[in-house]
Amino acid sequence: MIGFRNITKRFFGVPVLRDVSFAVPPGHTVGLVGENGAGKSTLMNILGGNLQPDAGSMLLDGRPYAPRTPRDAARSGVAFIHQELNLFPNLSIAENVFVAGFPRRARWLPLLDRRRIHDRTRELLAQVELSRPPETPVEHLSAGERQLVEIAKALALDARLILLDEPTTSLTDVEKALLFGIMARLRSRGLSMIYISHSLGHVLRLCDSVAVMRDGTLVAHQSAAALDTDRIVSWMVGREIRQLYPGRGDRTTGAVALEARGLSQSGTVSDISFELRRGEILGIAGLMGSGRSELARILFGLDPCAAGEIRLDGEPIHGLPPRERIRRGLAFLTEDRRAEGLCLEASIADNLSLVSWPRFATGPLGLLRRRDAGAAVTGMREAVRLTTSARDTQPVKTLSGGNQQKVVLGKWLLNRPGVLLLDEPTRGIDVGAKQEVYRLIADLARQGTAILMISSELEELTGLCDRILVMRRGRIRDAMAAQEFDRERILRAALHDETAA
Ligand SMILES: Nc1ncnc2c1ncn2[C@@H]1O[C@H](COP(=O)(O)OP(=O)(O)OP(=O)(O)O)[C@@H](O)[C@H]1O
Ligand SMILES: [Mg+2]
Repeated sequence: MIGFRNITKRFFGVPVLRDVSFAVPPGHTVGLVGENGAGKSTLMNILGGNLQPDAGSMLLDGRPYAPRTPRDAARSGVAFIHQELNLFPNLSIAENVFVAGFPRRARWLPLLDRRRIHDRTRELLAQVELSRPPETPVEHLSAGERQLVEIAKALALDARLILLDEPTTSLTDVEKALLFGIMARLRSRGLSMIYISHSLGHVLRLCDSVAVMRDGTLVAHQSAAALDTDRIVSWMVGREIRQLYPGRGDRTTGAVALEARGLSQSGTVSDISFELRRGEILGIAGLMGSGRSELARILFGLDPCAAGEIRLDGEPIHGLPPRERIRRGLAFLTEDRRAEGLCLEASIADNLSLVSWPRFATGPLGLLRRRDAGAAVTGMREAVRLTTSARDTQPVKTLSGGNQQKVVLGKWLLNRPGVLLLDEPTRGIDVGAKQEVYRLIADLARQGTAILMISSELEELTGLCDRILVMRRGRIRDAMAAQEFDRERILRAALHDETAA
């Protein structure tokens, strides 16, 4: 279906892809894996016509293929579902599906064939099992539904090859299962797919073969049947990962740092009470939509809260704006790094010092002590192990997804928070980097930071936390200490119907 031959790409002279060669047979699904910054998205951008290689060539269906634009790629039947979704929120589903070329009443008439647009959209939505009217604005859809619209868009193009770049990062488990079902059906219809993911279990389950990249080169491409995750990880990272979680060890907890009493806000959370102590890592489990992120936003002062009390180090902070809460040592890592966590056009250094710059300002004019700020930024880059190939002045949007996540984390750590709220801190991060982020979190706790961690990955909660609260429909339904951690018990509390509970 598609063959890569010695594809090479450099950014600012730094090689990002080196002599990458491999082939995808027709009807085949290939899993493309590798650490953050390994070059996966770049390779897909070349295939999708967003970037041109510096050297090397591609063959599509046996014919030379060199798209200059995404439009060229689409015409050749290559559809690209990006790591960060690309829909227009204020347009309808139908308008998004056909945005690249609306059917007209007649070729020579500048009139849109609305009926055909809607009928065809309805057909495509049925194929992806999305039961929404074509006129629905995309902004009314959940992340999972948007993902399905992206696939419908690909089907509208009559794509023969679909590229999926981390399509599951913001999906609920139910939405993931639905997506996998649709992928299986597309595969049985003979479509070829390239599937990028950091979830190696999914890759092994969904793909015929796995291609592993490291530092811009292809280190292996083998049939999935013969592989297991340990093997893939050692290819990806170049070492074995023995212990993913740092272990609780000698951590001791101190005074209460954050206290919530009876927090209620209609439609999001009801009667939430808990205490979080210095040096403690408190996990919050629950399904997407159970009110976890809403709780974090209330604690940080981003969303209103009708009833209840929040105390930070014993002081009530109700009604204080986020800026004042930050000054008092609160930090909040959002789950949506692109929309809320970063200034994408700004540099790595500016993003890292975004919260903590007052620390580096002196005098009545608040002039920035650039050298001190620079040194702090350099230190933080090392602490979060940001890729060394990027310069401080490089816009943060040019970093790989996982490295962007490290910048958001580093930004907060530079401010040395006393209480750190983390919402899905390892989203889009590779296994090696995960291990490092877990180590960072555990070290912070050991130094006395109180940490509240929301995660959809049960394993990371049970591996890292001292205590876990389980939320369902805005309420805390269960709480357990480390010695009682039990996957099934957590799932039961997260899933159960009110009636069964
Ligand atoms: N426009 C650009 N300018 C400069 N460097 C870039 C640009 N785009 C990508 N890079 C660099 O190329 C390297 C590969 O990035 P790429 O996005 O392909 O990684 P990835 O394998 O998709 O990682 P992730 O798993 O984090 O998404 C990174 O070091 C990144 O910083
Ligand atoms: Mg990527």
